[in-house]
Amino acid sequence: MELAIFDLDGVIVDTAKYHYLAWKRLAREQGFDFTETDNERLKGVSRMRSLEILLEIGDVSADEPARQEMATRKNTWYVEYISRMDTSEILPGAAEYVRHLRSKDVKTAIGSASRNTPLILERLQIASLFDVVIDGHRVERAKPDPEVFVLGAQTLNVLPEHCVVFEDAEAGIEAARRGGMGAVGIGRPAVLKDADVVVPSLLELLTLSVVDQAIAA
Ligand code: BG6
Ligand code: MG
Repeated sequence: MELAIFDLDGVIVDTAKYHYLAWKRLAREQGFDFTETDNERLKGVSRMRSLEILLEIGDVSADEPARQEMATRKNTWYVEYISRMDTSEILPGAAEYVRHLRSKDVKTAIGSASRNTPLILERLQIASLFDVVIDGHRVERAKPDPEVFVLGAQTLNVLPEHCVVFEDAEAGIEAARRGGMGAVGIGRPAVLKDADVVVPSLLELLTLSVVDQAIAA
């Protein structure tokens, strides 16, 4: 592995709960309920596609200007929530694992659909842990299209076969596969069936690396 590409939401930080709160608020305004189970369908999905799914669930129809307005309103609430985040919300082992890879001369990147990536990295104070950050502002095609990962690899001049992607969403694992990269699933094996390997969190990978090092010493 020459380059490790990390998805942000659900891999480095648990922002799903804030997306959920904001989408639920929008659903309530539209007069229907939106559950945590429904929210699972939005993980890794772009903002506008998430809105489409939400409106399908509530059986609400809206024209394009109304949709744009709803997406903007949801994002304003979401930004309010994540603006209050601090370093305690980094997922267990995430920052330490990225640092560990960097100490082994592995390059590191973020490959995220979120247009709020810069704000989140700033709140968590981890922007300097990544050689390049590719986010929703830089890509045209959403995962499972591999564009976000391919752009990261090209920027750092690394061949796809030397890249490993760390992802919590099915669409992200498919994107890694389609980009010709290794795929590590973060979450449940039943959901992330196409990953090369699945672990519950980056903490397990950090622990394995420490054990490996101890054995080699
Ligand atoms: C992904 C999240 O990382 O980013 C999705 O998993 C989200 O839930 C998408 O919809 C877009 O994020 P944002 O912050 O640009 O609305
Ligand atoms: Mg994710």
